[in-house]
Amino acid sequence: MQTAQLEVNEIRKDFPILSRTINGKPLVYFDNAATTQKPFSVINAISDYYASYNANIHRAVYQIAEEATDAYEMTRDKVCKFINAHSREEIIFTRNATEAINLVAYSWGRKVIGKGDTIILSELEHHSNIVPWQMLCKEKKAKIEYLNVDNNGNLDLGKLESCIQQNNVKLISLSHMSNALGNIIPIESMIKYAHSFGIPFFVDGAQSVPHIRTDVTDLNCEFLAFSGHKMLGPTGVGVLYAKKEILECMNPFIGGGDMIKEVHKYETTYNDLPYKYEGGTPNIADVIGFSHALDYLNKIGMDNIRRHELDLTKYALECLSSLKGMKLYGDDNLSRRGGIISFNLGDIHPHDLATILNDNGIAIRSGHHCAQILMEKLDVSATSRASFYIYNTQEEINIFINALGKAIKLFRL
Ligand SMILES: Cc1ncc(COP(=O)(O)O)c(C=O)c1O
Repeated sequence: MQTAQLEVNEIRKDFPILSRTINGKPLVYFDNAATTQKPFSVINAISDYYASYNANIHRAVYQIAEEATDAYEMTRDKVCKFINAHSREEIIFTRNATEAINLVAYSWGRKVIGKGDTIILSELEHHSNIVPWQMLCKEKKAKIEYLNVDNNGNLDLGKLESCIQQNNVKLISLSHMSNALGNIIPIESMIKYAHSFGIPFFVDGAQSVPHIRTDVTDLNCEFLAFSGHKMLGPTGVGVLYAKKEILECMNPFIGGGDMIKEVHKYETTYNDLPYKYEGGTPNIADVIGFSHALDYLNKIGMDNIRRHELDLTKYALECLSSLKGMKLYGDDNLSRRGGIISFNLGDIHPHDLATILNDNGIAIRSGHHCAQILMEKLDVSATSRASFYIYNTQEEINIFINALGKAIKLFRL
């Protein structure tokens, strides 16, 4: 992996929010697993669309409608290249990763999953990769089997084999990177293993695609979902990648304008891919904004981003582990982690800790992180979570550690 040091001070100038103060202190934004900040180029692209060529896409022949259509469709080409898909027909825009998962559960799942079938998930999953499958399984009288995790959140891969042998497994759906712990799952080998039994694989890439180079052609997964807002893009844009031959066989998700070829009184023929799955007016402005987020990430380079986050995570873990009362969660092996650190400090409730940190200008997340099954497994109701991105620095980690020191004193740990 050829990597270069990020010019973080230059990068920070592109993010207007980073010059804000909170409670008189510079904002330290460590909640990037929830959503990331947006550079000027993304913000400006959205207002430029509304100011200069706002029009609905795909239908009209006048100039600004063509400009809007071109900009929207150019984003699809960029996404296709970003994840190395075979063709732009395999890229479907949704509202977010959650909608992308629901789309597959609805359009593919209701066709393929039947009574007694099994879907394999893991105890690490975000609720978005659990609830749609639960809804499907309830309706179809199918069932879910969970791969267990140990106390560090590492998957029990041994169970995969027995689970496949004992059940009629129709899908494995796993998050590539846990949003609660930062653990990275060995999906490359798991996909190969699943395929040796003819089982399709869904990758929830909401946490991995923004941080790790992703190549769906190499991975050979059937489905991949992710959200633009977690990778410098605006909210309201998600992506579903699915293999073309699968998309061709699935039923539409939302019926209405744009997803049709011809509508007759009692019959409709559906549009070609990818439009068959994009019913109604899409989120044009934000998809165009997302294209600039992809440009920004490409300019920096995904391998450089990964290197930077690993450096920050290593430094933060070293600092955190020296604090009194610190309990760290997640994989001990740094190379199997992303830039997410979950922890508890003595018996301080994570919400109290997050409030103290906010007094110091620091934004971290506290709670169950939409991973209640994992929290139950770890026997905690909540953790505190710091998560990093391209604009975070070691100096910010020092501020964070300093503020945690204040909490330790305040609570007399
Ligand atoms: C692993 C994982 N999957 C899915 C999602 C859902 O993403 P969104 O809320 O953007 O749909 C998240 C969001 O945090 C996530 O971390």
